[in-house]
Amino acid sequence: MSYPYQIKSLDQYKQVYQNSIENPDQFWASIANHFRWKKKWDKVLNWNFKKPEVQWFQGAKLNITENALDRHLQYNGHRPAIIWEPNDPDDHHRIITYKDLHFKVCQFAHVLKNNGVKKGDRVVIYMGMVPELAIAVLACARIGAVHSVIFGGFSAQSIADRLQDAQAAFIITCDGAFRGNKDIPLKSVIDDAVVQCSFVKRIIVLTRTRTPVSMIKGRDIWWEDEIKKVETMGNPDFPAEEMDAEDPLFILYTSGSTGKPKGVVHSSAGYMVYTTYSFVNVFQYEQEDIFFCTADVGWITGHSYIVYGPLCAGATTLMFEGVPTYPDAGRFWAIVDKFKVNTLYTAPTAIRSLMSFGLGPIHGHDLSSLKVLGSVGEPINEEAWHWYDEHIGKGKCPIVDTWWQTETGGIMISNMAGITPSMPAHATLPLPGIQPTLVDENGKEIEGNSVSGNLCIKFPWPSIIRTTYGDHERCRTNYFATYENQYFTGDGALRDEHGNYRITGRVDDVLNVSGHRIGTAEVENAINMHAGVVESAVVGYPHDIKGQGIYAFVIDNNLHGDENLTRQDILITVSRIIGAIAKPDKIQFVSGLPKTRSGKIMRRILRKIAEGELTNLGDTSTLLDPSVVEEIIKGRV
Ligand code: WTA
Repeated sequence: MSYPYQIKSLDQYKQVYQNSIENPDQFWASIANHFRWKKKWDKVLNWNFKKPEVQWFQGAKLNITENALDRHLQYNGHRPAIIWEPNDPDDHHRIITYKDLHFKVCQFAHVLKNNGVKKGDRVVIYMGMVPELAIAVLACARIGAVHSVIFGGFSAQSIADRLQDAQAAFIITCDGAFRGNKDIPLKSVIDDAVVQCSFVKRIIVLTRTRTPVSMIKGRDIWWEDEIKKVETMGNPDFPAEEMDAEDPLFILYTSGSTGKPKGVVHSSAGYMVYTTYSFVNVFQYEQEDIFFCTADVGWITGHSYIVYGPLCAGATTLMFEGVPTYPDAGRFWAIVDKFKVNTLYTAPTAIRSLMSFGLGPIHGHDLSSLKVLGSVGEPINEEAWHWYDEHIGKGKCPIVDTWWQTETGGIMISNMAGITPSMPAHATLPLPGIQPTLVDENGKEIEGNSVSGNLCIKFPWPSIIRTTYGDHERCRTNYFATYENQYFTGDGALRDEHGNYRITGRVDDVLNVSGHRIGTAEVENAINMHAGVVESAVVGYPHDIKGQGIYAFVIDNNLHGDENLTRQDILITVSRIIGAIAKPDKIQFVSGLPKTRSGKIMRRILRKIAEGELTNLGDTSTLLDPSVVEEIIKGRV
């Protein structure tokens, strides 16, 4: 069975696209009609990019979990909602039906309520990839609390910053998480984080690794004990809180070009409609398909395409606890074979990493269940695209190259599997309802085809970012002030002669390392915290597996001979301040940085040096001290 708003041919795509531009209100209302509402909207869209202010389905009332759970109970309650594959292939997998999931979410919603969580409260979730992570997320949504999931790779300091920014008094975590051969002590990281956050009232701890943890009386409680209390209450049903269409659903922190991560806020109704609509169209999901997205729920991809999109569509979503290379580099293929996965959605960095192991790890795994492959997070290079196509898809699975961002909530530019043509390394065409533009430096829209420019979107879509938590002005200046009446993505793109988009990468100071967004300013701040460091400049450089690597130029006053030791110290400092994901791949000690007379670091020059492009550094005559460039080139690492 397909979905009423699923597009089934190229002609239909063209016609629907045209209609979505000409009659956006009617277009989105016709999709929204297929969801469960407590009250329908008075007005479809109200918007003003100057403020910015965007409201979708104004006046409507709903709860997203009624769409993700209750709506499926009558006919599909017995169907698997979540298939969970543990880190260790010898451990038991779990299959959680819609009925089970509804039950568990209601139970945990009671736990939250019993512990004083109310509508609008912020709840930080810092867990490994266990089904209880999805349950915690949905239970928050059930009672109207705003969840903020933090990826398990972030440090105590990063968590403390986010707890403070969100003023979150509640935390849900695990004792530890298994990832490959590592056992990550999540609760202990949380303990370090909350030292600075006395406003934290409750920490609910799920048992996963049985790592010893400290449990502070009056503050820390076990998930399992709390569930037992609910069990004695009898009827576990938990009526879903009535939410306004525009009530915030969650905050997700992401990096920008400034030093401090931003809390991207998404709404309830618009996010629900857009993630579901994009899920069924891009992947051409059909009921009973098994959908495997390899992202972590700590990132937007996991929010939209492990949890909300698939569940609102009544799909079966596969959640994997481990890593692609454990116990060997055939793990993804073993999972595809074991559960007869139909769609695999992963990141170019994972594909490149698996490519480096050759074809051996694929042998012996039956991949014939696969129908659709997907890519997300960074531009996919042609070599990886072809390998994925040939060796995983066996030339018969369309690859969807999905371009989108934390701020867009869902996939914006992508081919639709088997419906619109795929093109290596091209995200291709916008989804109906999405109006991308390319603009030049002066903000002038570049018309026509075979052009390049900065990628903007000129009309709102339902899951557009609503604000940056606690600082609306930041949202305005970051996304809506660069170009008038446009949402600016921060990416550059080409548009070919047929209107297909090819995303070329960030044009701001944001790096994309293994598909993780990292701000150069954030890494610089962390390096500068190290005693002895006077100044630093961080740029990206091409990296075979990670896409981009981090190259740091550092002025350090305390260099006493052993540079390597200082390098290690700096790496540990960055791990402590941000997390291991932000550790520079290369650190070069320098005595000065190339600066203009007004004191601005000329990153363009550093970028070229890091890339190894030494012959054409461009104009260096405006530098305060051009000789510094020679020295930096000589000392390249
Ligand atoms: C990049 C991830 C090229 C882009 C969903 C964007 C991509 C940033 C693609 C957002 C793609 C994501 N092709 N580049 N298919 N998908 N990007 O917020 O630079 O973690 O701005 O969201 O990733 O990263 P974020």
